[in-house]
Amino acid sequence: MSLKFMCNNIAETESLASKFASAVCETGAFVCMIGDVGAGKTAFTKFVCKYLNVTEKVTSPSFVILNEYKSGIIPVYHFDLYRLENEGIKTIINELEEYSEGKILTFVEWAQFSQNSLPFDRIELNINYIDENKREFSFSSYGTKSDEILKRLEKC
Ligand SMILES: Nc1ncnc2c1ncn2[C@@H]1O[C@H](COP(=O)(O)OP(=O)(O)OP(=O)(O)O)[C@@H](O)[C@H]1O
Ligand SMILES: [Mg+2]
Repeated sequence: MSLKFMCNNIAETESLASKFASAVCETGAFVCMIGDVGAGKTAFTKFVCKYLNVTEKVTSPSFVILNEYKSGIIPVYHFDLYRLENEGIKTIINELEEYSEGKILTFVEWAQFSQNSLPFDRIELNINYIDENKREFSFSSYGTKSDEILKRLEKC
């Protein structure tokens, strides 16, 4: 299943993130985020955390690879793979699968994996930079859990 949203400004991105938070708060999700530098991967993650009542300060994990937030409705794991070389990516793929299971929310920035290398239930989120304030968010689901999440998001 696929869903597209145009966010004309940051407030509309926040509103989309609040809907996404309600769509995932009971199940968790694994979200691969694809988009250029400055597209809004971290911005979207921060807003989703806000609506999951995360109280810790949410920052970009570019330097640390992984940030974890345990204070919200469900645990949030936020990866940024930008700094990993090919070898590092290979070793992390198996580990990532564990983060796709259970009632947790995982965001992975720079998750340009091939279809076959991530054979587990997940949402792919492409963020397209249109102009300074405008972004297009395209969600695609791979797997029954993620299909259900997008169905809920469509109704929000
Ligand atoms: N509609 C919008 N949605 C999301 N971000 C927006 C929007 N309009 C402006 N912005 C701004 O775009 C920037 C997005 O930066 P962000 O750090 O989220 O990008 P990123 O995709 O995580 O980049 P990187 O690959 O460097 O980690 C923020 O400064 C944010 O305020
Ligand atoms: Mg980022």
